[in-house]
Amino acid sequence: MILRIVWLFLALNLWGFCECKVISCGGFIKSFAKIDLTKIQVKLLTTEGNLKYETECNPNNGYFMIPIYNKGVYVFKIFAPHGWIFAPESIRIDVNGIDDVCTKGEDINFSLHGFTVSGKVKSGEEVGPSQFHLGLYSSNGTLVSETVTSAGGDYEFKAPPGEYIVSTVRSEECVERGSVPVQVIDTPVTVKEDIKISGHSVSITVNKEDGSAFANIDVSLTSDVQLQFNELPQHYTRPSITQKDGQWVYTIKTNSDGTTQICLPPGKYSAQPSYKKESVQFSFSPSQAPIVMKSEAQKISFRVSGFSTHGKVNVNKLPISGATILVNNSPRTESNEQGSYQLDEIKEGTYAITAKKKHYEFDTVTVELSSSNPVIPDITAKKYSAFYFF
Ligand SMILES: *[C@@H]1O[C@H](CO)[C@@H](O)[C@H](O)[C@H]1NC(C)=O
Ligand SMILES: *[C@@H]1O[C@H](CO)[C@@H](O)[C@H](O)[C@H]1NC(C)=O
Repeated sequence: MILRIVWLFLALNLWGFCECKVISCGGFIKSFAKIDLTKIQVKLLTTEGNLKYETECNPNNGYFMIPIYNKGVYVFKIFAPHGWIFAPESIRIDVNGIDDVCTKGEDINFSLHGFTVSGKVKSGEEVGPSQFHLGLYSSNGTLVSETVTSAGGDYEFKAPPGEYIVSTVRSEECVERGSVPVQVIDTPVTVKEDIKISGHSVSITVNKEDGSAFANIDVSLTSDVQLQFNELPQHYTRPSITQKDGQWVYTIKTNSDGTTQICLPPGKYSAQPSYKKESVQFSFSPSQAPIVMKSEAQKISFRVSGFSTHGKVNVNKLPISGATILVNNSPRTESNEQGSYQLDEIKEGTYAITAKKKHYEFDTVTVELSSSNPVIPDITAKKYSAFYFF
């Protein structure tokens, strides 16, 4: 009997206490698609993130209700299976018992916005690069959202229902399969076909001594492996392919701005510019550049460090061999049987060039030499004293 009274007292007391204090916060989980609402929970968290209450919603109409026993600031957060995108994801409410949403009896609604679209980028048959840019395009070509891959080449977009194309955004990669169509209906989408890249761009710049662009110069890349270059970004030209000493040589030419690009799959390469006009040959710094391609675009540059050029020594158009060539008064080389000589590692500048040989007297040619004007006028003998003395 006494127990019963105590129980009743407690119950009444408890009930009475709650009636005056409890504020109920309710709302709806709304969805455009038929989703399994039993998989969704709404949690009440403190601003520090501590869980105060959690509930499921009514699987038929999506209604949920959360009782609040103490006034304060709370975060209402929706927890849905991965890939279901709700807006908002959480709402912060100061439940003050006076004019907050709950006290006023208004709804806290969470609406399904879309689903994730996830897939993979592959580099050949290997896992793809991270930080690889991809876009989600609507079927009319508008960029809806952009993302970058995480480690292993994984990507993920969030998208409302519709038809899309996942595609590469930048053309610095050589892409085998650059775009994949996807359709978002009522579940998260895992894209079956991988975006495939066959290589990464190497951008090569060649400059002259004065820093200006060196256009139309060959750059050769040497490799142990045979490459196809079937799928190239639009503005790339297909390299010419030759074999030399058991290695494959891929040659491309610089454009008017002194640059050119090639796509290379992971591996080791060596790049080297080369340029020969009848009489001139350039040396470059560096003379060649090793490339270790991993999964990122690379840039390399070369600069002319000097050039070699040819000249001739003659008398009445007849070659003079064995003449010592003096450049700025220093002997540099000798003319050969054809009367010609070669000067190596010439830098841009003005040179006084003449020759010296017993019984001859030569003109001095003063010439401004540069890679674009490497031609040395012939050095001619003005006197051939030999004849006078005999
Ligand atoms: C929440 O959703 C319900 C049910 O669809 C609707 O009646 C109510 O107006 C919505 N409230 C707000 C604040 O959006
Ligand atoms: C393209 O489609 C998107 C949504 O799919 C739309 O918002 C946009 O207005 C469309 N643009 C054009 C130019 O039709």
